[in-house]
Amino acid sequence: MRKPLIAGNWKMNKTVSESVEFAREFVGKVSDVNDRDILICPPFTSLYAMREIFKDTGVKLGAQNMYYKDSGAYTGEISPLMLKDVGCDYVILGHSERRHIFGEDDNLINEKVVAAVSHGLIPILCVGELLEDREAGKTFDVVGNQLERGLKGISSKDNFVVAYEPVWAIGTGKTATPELAEEVHSFLREKLASLFGKEKAETVRILYGGSVKPENVNGLMAMKNIDGALVGGASLKVDSFVKIVKFGR
Ligand code: 13P
Repeated sequence: MRKPLIAGNWKMNKTVSESVEFAREFVGKVSDVNDRDILICPPFTSLYAMREIFKDTGVKLGAQNMYYKDSGAYTGEISPLMLKDVGCDYVILGHSERRHIFGEDDNLINEKVVAAVSHGLIPILCVGELLEDREAGKTFDVVGNQLERGLKGISSKDNFVVAYEPVWAIGTGKTATPELAEEVHSFLREKLASLFGKEKAETVRILYGGSVKPENVNGLMAMKNIDGALVGGASLKVDSFVKIVKFGR
């Protein structure tokens, strides 16, 4: 059985004081949740303050990106050591906004995934097709390649999470239907089985991301191969994120 993981990706939103206010209210509202993992990935600047509030609660912290070196002359970057030190358990890597706005390619993302794992951080590797890929019938090719290239050098003993985020569904209000998402999730699980063996593939959590809301989370989570959600906009308000965390109740 895969334990569901509900993750909030705040992207470039919230100051430290806004993050702290959210965190204080949020922990009180999810203290009765223990049958699923809860994760928030705020901006780097909020990590330290939120760590103090999430200490001794079930809520985990993650980052939205990192560089793959431990330290050095890399102006503007953050290392895996720094993320561990500030209390992160997870790091989102290869998000479509990193790929498409900041030009990250599969090689760079792979370096980051390998570095995360070697520092004991759990990478959430994001894959997803553009609308034009989908319309050209290339969805499986695109996400299959992103998965295989992103996980090069990773072994079946390593702990990682995959997130399927169709680019056309991110921030657009257009969610993939549960059936359409499930088709890609089940393809990704087969691909994981071909890379790491069936036994490992059955344990890897594959999250869905793209306009997840309280109104559509139950349908998505009912699918066999959807093991959680990576939530953008709807994770910015306590009430809507709590409702998503408590899906199915
Ligand atoms: P939205 O939920 O705002 O569509 O964002 C999805 C996403 O990119 C999460 O990483």
